[in-house]
Amino acid sequence: MAYPPTGVWLWATRNKEQGRGNTMPTLGIIGSGNIGSAVARLAVAADIDVVIANSRGPQSLADLVEELGSRATAGTVEQAASAGETILLSIPLTAYSSLPAELLRGRTVLDTGNYYPHRDGRIGELDAEKMTTAELAQQLLPGALLVKAFNNILAHHIPQLARPAGAPDRSALPIAGTDQGAKTRAAELIDRLGFDTVDAGTPGETWRFEPEAGAYTRIYLADPSVPVERMLEAPAAPLSADELRAALQASERVKVAERTF
Ligand SMILES: NC(=O)c1ccc[n+]([C@@H]2O[C@H](COP(=O)([O-])OP(=O)(O)OC[C@H]3O[C@@H](n4cnc5c(N)ncnc54)[C@H](OP(=O)(O)O)[C@@H]3O)[C@@H](O)[C@H]2O)c1
Repeated sequence: MAYPPTGVWLWATRNKEQGRGNTMPTLGIIGSGNIGSAVARLAVAADIDVVIANSRGPQSLADLVEELGSRATAGTVEQAASAGETILLSIPLTAYSSLPAELLRGRTVLDTGNYYPHRDGRIGELDAEKMTTAELAQQLLPGALLVKAFNNILAHHIPQLARPAGAPDRSALPIAGTDQGAKTRAAELIDRLGFDTVDAGTPGETWRFEPEAGAYTRIYLADPSVPVERMLEAPAAPLSADELRAALQASERVKVAERTF
């Protein structure tokens, strides 16, 4: 069944009709690409201030912050990393080692990263399944309170599926991490952005919703059998928390070394 995209602004209107005040602290966003900008749009629509950064510097973000409006500021990576208690990290895995890890220490960091060998190069520990991408990220960012989130949904499905709290057709996203407080903060933020969450366990269990696994992006497709080359245009359909739990439970560990993308 095709599902009509609601769009961020319709979602924002419904959110405002519910009379939600601006009680969320500023969100730092590192990475202004597909996922970072999609989450930034939901954040400003939910009356959350954002400081957003990329690799090229604040001046390159002029058009995006103009589109996002007065709640958005372009910053350096350091400014985004220290903008608030919670940061969305949405950059290629290979760039993690360039981040100011000390600034992220003790902060809740929603980590959207996936491992694509064609982009990141082959990473032996991941190919050997000695660790998940989430565990590698924690090694690279010691002391950051990492919560894996937004890594199992296609960027263009994020605005299509965002709904106010309590909407009958709300979708759920998995979160995983070690620190319970950070998971709670991540769940509160994601709720405000328009999604329910399902606790998918520890960083070691995130293989269940990493690329190719059973709880990865296809579960949000209106037609899950759509060929891979059409996935970027294919519409989304809501996925309930119970359906997500079932997909996580049924997921099987994939052979990362055989990944060809
Ligand atoms: N696209 C999806 O549907 C999707 C879905 C799930 C998960 N993911 C994962 O989420 C992450 C982001 O994906 P994306 O599609 O949003 O990527 P993208 O569109 O390629 O954007 C990547 C962003 O990261 C920034 N960046 C790169 N190196 C950086 C550095 N050293 N410091 C600061 N910023 C840096 C880039 O800055 P510049 O613009 O200045 O180059 C860009 O804004 C990736 O790990 C990806 O695997 C993507």
